[in-house]
Amino acid sequence: MSADDKYPEESGRRRFVKGVVGGSALAGVGALGTVTVNSATASPGAGGGSTQAWAIENTGGPAPRGMPQIPIEIDSEGYIKGVWPDVETVTQGGREVQVAEMDLGGSTYSSEWFQYCGVEGYGGIQPGYESENYFRSGSNPAYNWQSQSKEEGDRFHVDDFSDYEEWGNGIGDPGTGKPASGRWRSEDASDIIPIQLLRSTRIEEAAQDDEWLQASTSEGFIAWLNKCTHFCCVPGYKQSADAGRFGNPNSVYCQCHQSTYDPFNLVQTLFIARPRPD
Ligand code: FES
Repeated sequence: MSADDKYPEESGRRRFVKGVVGGSALAGVGALGTVTVNSATASPGAGGGSTQAWAIENTGGPAPRGMPQIPIEIDSEGYIKGVWPDVETVTQGGREVQVAEMDLGGSTYSSEWFQYCGVEGYGGIQPGYESENYFRSGSNPAYNWQSQSKEEGDRFHVDDFSDYEEWGNGIGDPGTGKPASGRWRSEDASDIIPIQLLRSTRIEEAAQDDEWLQASTSEGFIAWLNKCTHFCCVPGYKQSADAGRFGNPNSVYCQCHQSTYDPFNLVQTLFIARPRPD
């Protein structure tokens, strides 16, 4: 751990929330879904509706549910990308629309998992958007290791995370996981899809006997769409010491209204995906 790898403290409103579960919750990974139903929209468009996604668990604050996971794959050179579902054309309501959906690890993985907070209108979330699907470093990364070794737009490589078993930045416990912040399917698009990538021994261990995690994670890497399900801010893992004041310093924390998420506990969450605008 390097002392200069500490991200500056956030300021902002603070609100007490109940404590969150720690690493022991891993025993429950993939075992049972937490099902919540959230508000629907009546706006017209393609796709959308009732959707069950795998998500990192919401553990505190006003967020209504977890943030959706992005399944991972690592290419033959060690670069990390997100899986985009297979695209097909189906007939919905008497017209032909494209959908991106596939069977993965015993679940149905769909682009609808990401259709909330306006992301449903982003170019990269449209099923047929052409992308090589690599996770890329964003501008103003939240972590010193990243700003020192990655340029904006660089792809993430397994070797960037080789110290993941020890890495720390003075927030929470070192060795719980090494994070990166970035984007996905956003090159040449007007909207940036924010993601968080994390490599952890906890994910490696949990994936050993879990069908979903075996299919959706790789070498301890997990990723999720980094849009808070409350009011759509961009949270962070170990980006603010405030995370410890509102639950667990090793959790993902949203500085806007103090929601917390546990990236080591994956749950199934049911919600109403917003249709993609025509
Ligand atoms: S807690 Fe309100 S936007 Fe995240």
